[in-house]
Amino acid sequence: MESYNETTDYLILVNKQNPIPDDWWQRIRTVHITNSLGMDVETETAAYEAYLNLKEELKKDGIAVDLDSALRSRKTQEQIAADFTEEYGEEYTAKIVAVPGYSEHHTGLALDLYLNIDGEDVYFNFEMMEYAPVWEKIHQRITDHGFILRYPQEREHITGYVYEPWHIRYVGKETARIIHDQNLTLEEYLKGEREYVPQIDYGRSSLYTQEELKEMAILIKCRFAAWRGCHLRSLAYAGDGEKTVFVMKYVTDTDREEKEGRWFLRKTTRGDWVIDRCLASE
Ligand code: DAL
Ligand code: ZN
Repeated sequence: MESYNETTDYLILVNKQNPIPDDWWQRIRTVHITNSLGMDVETETAAYEAYLNLKEELKKDGIAVDLDSALRSRKTQEQIAADFTEEYGEEYTAKIVAVPGYSEHHTGLALDLYLNIDGEDVYFNFEMMEYAPVWEKIHQRITDHGFILRYPQEREHITGYVYEPWHIRYVGKETARIIHDQNLTLEEYLKGEREYVPQIDYGRSSLYTQEELKEMAILIKCRFAAWRGCHLRSLAYAGDGEKTVFVMKYVTDTDREEKEGRWFLRKTTRGDWVIDRCLASE
């Protein structure tokens, strides 16, 4: 991805316990746009590019979205918190607005969408909530573009915030797929995965494209996630001459000695990858 920035940690966690690091803004690149309401919106570049692709795809579904807010300064967050407190009181504000310094919006990777319904912009929270079927369609599309729904329903005890259908967070396609397919929040994903981030080696192949190998690796990672107490250390393409497509190394909670497994995959006539079998050492 052209706009992907090496110094940016696309998996940064900013929540009620984790503030934005002081040097964050030196580590990101951003773009400014003007939305349909005439407001300036600043967004991290990779997140913005992903958003544009999402917007294009949604257009084909007859859904029009725009960006209400992405990167916010501490000062802007302060203003939002003050306005909400005045209007709705402290208790509700704490459930929906972050304290300055602790908002994911400081990252530039969190995007608040608003809707355009029959030519009319719909941007007030309570009004937007009335369009549940539209949000459902939007949420079905975001994963393929590297976004997650950051504050899903009934996860307030983990994320610290009530359901916000408009707030999506860019994490990259692979992570978005895992978080979505395993029905996780970012908090849960990072707790389990950061410790064991697997090394992936796609190698070289004249049989498969890099994109295909990536799709296969995601499928394996998702399947592997159901192996209780097991942690993936590495996944490597076995080479064009091998029947095995990927070789994995993993450890278990009960035995730290590294084990090996071999995954066999094939493409269906519909063009999807499926796992034929996995042979793993005990
Ligand atoms: N609405 C989200 C939680 C924020 O204020 O950052
Ligand atoms: Zn938001």
